[in-house]
Amino acid sequence: MKFFRVAILAGLFALAACDRAAPVAVPAPLGLPAIPAPPDAPLLKARIELGRSLFMDRRLSHNNTLSCGMCHVPEQGFTSNELGTAIGLEGQTIRRNSPTIYNVAYVEQLFHDGREFSLENQAWGPLLAGNEMANPSIGYVVEKIKALPEYAGRFEAAFDGRGPDMMTIGLALAAYQRTLVSAGSRFDAWRYGGTAGALNAEEQAGFALFTGKAGCVACHHVGEKTALFADNRFHNTGIGYANSMDLPRRHRVQLAPGKFVEIEDKALDAFEKRQPDVGRYEVTLDPADSWAYRTPSLRNVALTAPYMHDGSLATLGDVIEFYDRGGIDNPHKDPLLKPLGLSVAGKKSLVAFLGTLTGDNVPRLVAEARAAQPGEALPAKDPASTYKRAY
Ligand code: HEC
Ligand code: HEC
Repeated sequence: MKFFRVAILAGLFALAACDRAAPVAVPAPLGLPAIPAPPDAPLLKARIELGRSLFMDRRLSHNNTLSCGMCHVPEQGFTSNELGTAIGLEGQTIRRNSPTIYNVAYVEQLFHDGREFSLENQAWGPLLAGNEMANPSIGYVVEKIKALPEYAGRFEAAFDGRGPDMMTIGLALAAYQRTLVSAGSRFDAWRYGGTAGALNAEEQAGFALFTGKAGCVACHHVGEKTALFADNRFHNTGIGYANSMDLPRRHRVQLAPGKFVEIEDKALDAFEKRQPDVGRYEVTLDPADSWAYRTPSLRNVALTAPYMHDGSLATLGDVIEFYDRGGIDNPHKDPLLKPLGLSVAGKKSLVAFLGTLTGDNVPRLVAEARAAQPGEALPAKDPASTYKRAY
C-alpha cells in the first residue's frame, strides 16, 4: 500500500514537472493574431514564471532598488504614468518615455528607435545601462542571480539543467513578456466578436473618424480579423524635431497629485538640459530617418499616459489636438500628417473611441505580476567574489 502511495506521488510529481516543461499554449485574445515566438524559444510555464519573478525583482539592479516592473509598472499599464521620461538608478534621467510592455510580442523592432530585434537580447540594455539598472557587467548579473536563494534550481528546471547565464536570463524575461498579450476589449467585442452594442454611438463615430477623415489607420493598422493598431514602421511627427531645434514648447508639470502647471520647456533647462535624440537616424544613419520613431500600438492606450517617445503629451485629448494641427512641420515630416480640421465633437469622439481599447484581461495580468513575490534577501557576499572559472 505504502509502495503504491509513493509510486502515485512520484508519478504526480513527474506529471507536475512535465507540465512545467511542456510548451504553454497562450491563446491570443479576441482581436490579436497568434503570439509570435521563436521556434527555439518555446513558452514553457517554468520559463514564464521565472521571467515574471526576474521582471519584478529589485535585486536585478546594481544597488538592489530598481526592478523592470518599477519603470514598467503593472498597475500603470506596464509603463510609468507619473513620468514623461523615465528615471533610473539614483534619480538619473533617461531621455525617453517607458513604453508599455503589453503586446510587445508583436513588436518587430524594439525601443522607440527600433535598435534591438529580440526580447532575449533587449533585456541586457536596461540591465547594463549606467542610468537604468547600472550593473557593472553581464557576468556580475549572472553571479548575483546564482547567489540569490529564491532562484536555486529554477533555471535548471526551466532550461533542461542549464543554470543562469546570459542566454537563459534573456530567454526567461522574454518568455514572460511575450505572455503579456492584452486585447478582448469592448472594441474587439464590437468589431470581431459580433456584439453590436459593445460601443455606443459616440465611440462608433470616433472609429469612423479614425479610419476615415482623420487618417489614423494609415499607421495604426486595423485588419479584417485582428488589429495591432501599429505598422511596425517609423514616422516623423515633428516632436523629436521640435525638441532638437529647441522650438518653444510647453510642458505640463505635476506639483502634487492632481495639481499641474504649464511651463515653457526652456525653463527646465536650468535643472537639466534635454539630451539629444534624433530617433531612428541613430540606428540607420540615414538622414531621411531623422526624428522618426516607431508607431506604438494603441491597445490599452487609456492606461499608458503620458504619450509619445518623450512623454510630452499628457492626455489623449492633447494627442488629438496635436494631430488636428497636423503634427509639427519640419523637412522630414511624414506626408500623411496634415491639419485635419476636426470639430469639437469629432475630437471628443476620437478620445472616446481610444478609451474602448482596454483589454479585458488587464486585472489578471496585473495580479499575476504582483503575485510573483521575488524575495528581498541579498547575497551574503559580493556576487563578484563568488565567481570561479569552471575550466
Ligand atoms: C529606468 C526605467 C526602466 C527600467 C528599470 C527598465 N526599463 Fe524597459 N524601457 C525603459 C525605457 C525608457 C524604454 C525606451 C527606451 C528607448 O526607446 O530608447 C524601455 C524599453 C523597453 C522595451 C522595448 C519596448 C518596445 O515597445 O519597444 C522592453 C521590452 C523593455 N523596456 C523591457 C524591460 C525589461 C525586461 C527590464 C528589466 C530587465 C526593463 N525594461 C527595465 C525604461 C526602463
Ligand atoms: C504617419 C503615421 C501616423 C498617423 C497617420 C497617426 N499616427 Fe499616431 N503615432 C504615430 C507614431 C510614429 C507615434 C509615436 C510618436 C513618438 O513616439 O514620438 C504615434 C503615437 C500616437 C499615440 C501615442 C501612443 C503612446 O503610447 O505614446 C496616440 C494616442 C496616437 N498616435 C493616436 C493617433 C490618432 C488618434 C491618429 C489619427 C488622428 C494618429 N495617431 C495618426 C504614427 C501615426
